[in-house]
Amino acid sequence: MDRTVAVILAAGQGKRMRSALPKVMHPLLGLPMIEYAVRAAEGAGASQVLVVVPPAGGAIQEYLGERCTYVVQPEPRGTGDALRQAEPLVPRDATLWVLYGDMPRLRPELLRAALEEHRRARATATLTSMEPADPRGYGRIVRSPEGDFLAIVEEADADEATRSLREVNAGLYVFEPEPLFEALRRVEPRNAQQEYYLVDALPRLREAGGRVAVWQAGRRDEFEGVNDRRQLAEAERWLRHRIAEGWMERGVSIVDPESTWIGPDVEIGTDARIEPMSWLLGRSRVGAGARIGPGVHLVDSQVGEGATVFFSVVEASRIGDGAQVGPFAHLRPGADLAEGALVGNFAEVKNSRVGPGTKIHHHSYIGDARLGAGVNIGAGVVTVNYDGLRKHRTEIDDGAFIGCNANLVAPLHVGEHAYVAAGSTLTQDVPPWALAIARERQSNKADWARRRQERAASEEDPR
Ligand code: UD1
Ligand code: CA
Repeated sequence: MDRTVAVILAAGQGKRMRSALPKVMHPLLGLPMIEYAVRAAEGAGASQVLVVVPPAGGAIQEYLGERCTYVVQPEPRGTGDALRQAEPLVPRDATLWVLYGDMPRLRPELLRAALEEHRRARATATLTSMEPADPRGYGRIVRSPEGDFLAIVEEADADEATRSLREVNAGLYVFEPEPLFEALRRVEPRNAQQEYYLVDALPRLREAGGRVAVWQAGRRDEFEGVNDRRQLAEAERWLRHRIAEGWMERGVSIVDPESTWIGPDVEIGTDARIEPMSWLLGRSRVGAGARIGPGVHLVDSQVGEGATVFFSVVEASRIGDGAQVGPFAHLRPGADLAEGALVGNFAEVKNSRVGPGTKIHHHSYIGDARLGAGVNIGAGVVTVNYDGLRKHRTEIDDGAFIGCNANLVAPLHVGEHAYVAAGSTLTQDVPPWALAIARERQSNKADWARRRQERAASEEDPR
């Protein structure tokens, strides 16, 4: 098969977004919009992905890195001008896919279908048309009375009759490079926006004897673009539902797809149950039979089989099989909970290993620590890991019992089965099986309160 190169246009200002961020860097399900277009091209088998970026588009290159080749469009003078910039980098013997960076719903299958149509029709150029429910904002496809393609007229340049046409330019093209660049050179910015329109290359191509085919994709929403924030929200919602439906087909319960955000790189085992108001993002993996939510924000984390996570925030952490997290727990990067561990009720764990069956029930902070198996952490326990300059480690061995409100000033080691008395502030290691007490002893002053009250009463009454 001949090689196919993809060119993605992403150098526009995205004026309608009213944003300081380049339009294609706005996130959908945790990934920038441009990622979806690049994946569609990669998935379709593009031998090279060329991205046309703005001069200040450092953010796009930085994000995509070496997966793509870049060419800068010095000024946003229109989609035709953007495509022209790619000319020096396009191999003459390749076939070109051209797509816009603002089409996050696109799938590789659609690029392949357009290419197939292009080959079947032996065309010089193939464009894709669709009939969306609402054609506003798209270029309308104008045909001759015989139904032959004539031109694409942008909304801003269309009269009322043209605006009423329902067939629009979807924004996915296949080109033979030589005649395309030839035609682009003859495009002029004679239109309402005074831009060099890519779509104007198509009539020029025809005039030069080229063959323009239209792949009629019909009533599909996969081609819908994102020009403003309303369309951004719509696109994310659409992606969300497509992903949720895929998981439901594979045996995952999603109680309310409308309030569930699952990123495209997440994996979920069968019989897992995702409750409402939950975000599963990044490279997260959820084991079979686990229960996530309600109210969970899970990013780049693994959840074991049969584990439960609810009303909690989990980042770059690992939760073992059958472990329980929440309500109201925060697992920060590097939290690693073994099977059957429990963290809940306003507890925070960071960069710490929590052993099997260990419980951190209430109001605790565990940072830079290693907790063995069957450890009990009482309410309000804090590993004092930071001295203002450096972080220090706390080690707690199997079966230790840490009483409520203990401060464990690190570096510190508590031996196996040791006890730490409630309210202690420990600065020294505790041997195995010992009891450590590090607080003032209590003394009771008998009848103190009664005497105080009597004294106060006699002072008030001078007689
Ligand atoms: C474009 C098409 C329209 C089609 C629609 C489909 C043109 C003239 N119009 O309109 O027919 O129905 O897409 O979604 O092509 N860009 C640049 N440099 C520029 C201008 C734009 O790189 O100077 C990039 C943008 O970053 C964007 C893409 O090209 O990713 C499309 O530009 P946009 O302004 O969104 O075009 P539409 O008005 O949506
Ligand atoms: Ca657009």
